[in-house]
Amino acid sequence: MADTLTVTDSRTGKQYVLPIEDGTIRAMDLRQIKKDGEDFGLMSYDPAFTNTAACRSRVTFIDGDKGVLMYRGYPIEQLAEHSDFLETAYLILFGELPQQKQYDDWARQITLHTMLHTNIAKLMEGFRHDAHPMGMFISTMGALSTFYPDAKEIFSEESRRLQTVRLIAKVPSISAYAFRHSIGRPFNQPDNDLSYAGNFLNMLFRMTELKFNAHPVLERALDVLFILHADHEQNCSTSVMRAIGSSHADPYSAIAGAAAALYGPLHGGANEAVLRMLHEIGSMQNVPAFIKRVKAGEGRLMGFGHRVYKSYDPRAKIIKRIADLVFDVTGKNPLLDMALELERIALEDEYFVSRKLYPNVDFYSGLIYQAMGFPVDMFPVLFAIPRTAGWIAQWEEMLTDPDQKIARPRQIYVGPTQRPYVSKEKRR
Ligand code: CMC
Repeated sequence: MADTLTVTDSRTGKQYVLPIEDGTIRAMDLRQIKKDGEDFGLMSYDPAFTNTAACRSRVTFIDGDKGVLMYRGYPIEQLAEHSDFLETAYLILFGELPQQKQYDDWARQITLHTMLHTNIAKLMEGFRHDAHPMGMFISTMGALSTFYPDAKEIFSEESRRLQTVRLIAKVPSISAYAFRHSIGRPFNQPDNDLSYAGNFLNMLFRMTELKFNAHPVLERALDVLFILHADHEQNCSTSVMRAIGSSHADPYSAIAGAAAALYGPLHGGANEAVLRMLHEIGSMQNVPAFIKRVKAGEGRLMGFGHRVYKSYDPRAKIIKRIADLVFDVTGKNPLLDMALELERIALEDEYFVSRKLYPNVDFYSGLIYQAMGFPVDMFPVLFAIPRTAGWIAQWEEMLTDPDQKIARPRQIYVGPTQRPYVSKEKRR
């Protein structure tokens, strides 16, 4: 017998039997529960969607209590160990790990699309010298829709595939352009002999040398960080991607919106906020006083806590290991000791323990980025590059899901009841 939930409405004494499928009831099944014929029917109230599944997805699985993260069934630890970002992006986008030929074709297509239209470069030159790179990234993603009007053909699989290749190929170029603009240096063209991460580092840091070869440890570290950030199921920016996509906007416009959601300090902007927080704390001796302020509700310990993880974020564990490898090359980030001390105190403190607040992906990533030479305001952009793969995969899943329609939540209206318009002279 199928699982059901029996609900008794105390207002009418009526009983309703609601089917349970995959551990959920359909919110629309509540609508039949009415006080009387006039009643609209029962709704569920769930601000911030803390207990509402908005889709069925095959992309990413998280078990927040056990600290498990898998892309298409593959544990993140194994991907971080054995895969590279382009392969992981392929897996996330198309559902399976590529065979050698599929991988070679995919990598070749990506390298063929890394260059930006000169007018995109001109557009980016128009930003103020001190423009935040994430602001440039968001605006440029929106502008891309004007360069590729064919992207409006969202129900053409061929068009979706082309936009996917363009996006994965161009996000590092756009990000590198934003960086070069912010430091007042000329843009570097992509070098298609290099790996995805290696070419990105080339576009960022090449000066007058003819060939730029990044340190292999740093190149691999960045690639692994890209793998770790590639998708994270229905987070804030992905939900925005799906919501914008549900109105059938083109993927560039949707990604501009998703990136804007990522920019906030509670989401992808947290890596930047962690570094600013560490600078603000200043020294080890100020750590206990800072923790005290956080516990008193005067600010948050950035890089801690997660809506889904109620144990150590598996990505943070991997990042901590990468940090050691990177610091062997670059020298230790002087802020590391302070971060470790914050973590040590927080993991023992009743406030953080009882709320199950553990370091998340952003707690240590910024320390690595900084040691690699990235300015703090580039950090959210470094999150957006790999997350583009996840955004596109989730967008496409939404578009091809017959259950999905335009996203349109309900509300509980608590404003004034009907009242007559009052002319200006009579207003009190
Ligand atoms: N520092 C101090 N207290 C915290 C923190 C924190 N970082 N995070 C949550 N809390 C407290 C919060 O005050 C609340 O306490 P109380 O029950 O006494 O009111 C309790 O823990 C539950 O917090 P919440 O705000 O209801 O949890 P949420 O699921 O809505 O928020 C979060 C999740 C990630 C927005 C939040 O933990 C936070 O603001 N963390 C800091 C920002 C951060 O690191 N964000 C990066 C997230 S991971 C990367 C990504 O995918 O974006």
